Amino acid sequence: MSATITVNLKIWRQAGPDAQGRLVDYPTANVSQDMSFLEMLDVVNDGLIRQGQEPIAFDSDCREGICGSCGLMVNGIAHGPDPGGTVCQLHMRRFRDGETITVEPWRARAFPVIKDLVVDRSAFDRVIAAGGYVSVNTGAAPEANAIAVARDVAELAMDSAQCIGCGACVAACKNASAALFTSAKVTHLALLPQGQVERERRVVRMVTQMDAEGFGMCSNEGECEAVCPKGISISNIATMNREYFRASVLKTG
Ligand code: SF4
Ligand code: FES
Repeated sequence: MSATITVNLKIWRQAGPDAQGRLVDYPTANVSQDMSFLEMLDVVNDGLIRQGQEPIAFDSDCREGICGSCGLMVNGIAHGPDPGGTVCQLHMRRFRDGETITVEPWRARAFPVIKDLVVDRSAFDRVIAAGGYVSVNTGAAPEANAIAVARDVAELAMDSAQCIGCGACVAACKNASAALFTSAKVTHLALLPQGQVERERRVVRMVTQMDAEGFGMCSNEGECEAVCPKGISISNIATMNREYFRASVLKTG
């Protein structure tokens, strides 16, 4: 039988986008240390529903670290205390018996709270829609050796492509900058042959949209890289800045 602990949850409750929010205490006993953090919230919600109370709203989908839906501030850290993981990969064995755990939504002007722990991350979708795609017809899957891509370039592109759009980088940044997210997409496509056709237009449009959404400027704090569950490097931001400068010189946008 697994060990159980008691935790004092302080969870942000907010009935809607314009409602006043506040932290509410949920003392919770018999929490199995084998539970994931989201399973623990499921159990809390079961109890609330049985008592006729409104369950806590939070986002999740894959629950295995690949979709980017989940995302919470746990004790003030985006995705919680385990580096390189998402909230759905965080387990209760990471917490001490009797510990107080504060759970809050992402805090950023461009990510308004919809309800409780759920925020609206559609700003990211609009940044992608501005240029994070390849619109040339690439046809059917080509023979693997038809377009030669150097191994190290392919590896770098795939490193950048790992971004799951969770928004932790924005939540951790004191400026609420989306530079890490946007730069991962720009870098991924700028490195590959398929991304060359729209290379200059893409970076200008995505950066313009990023600014229009109300994300802050990057001031090289590095907090984004520290909390990114996919290890996206801030070197992507340097690449984005170079790409933007290159597009400005070429005057295409
Ligand atoms: S760069 Fe990292 S932290 Fe930011 S959205 Fe992508 S995966 Fe999440
Ligand atoms: S629920 Fe998909 S990454 Fe956490």
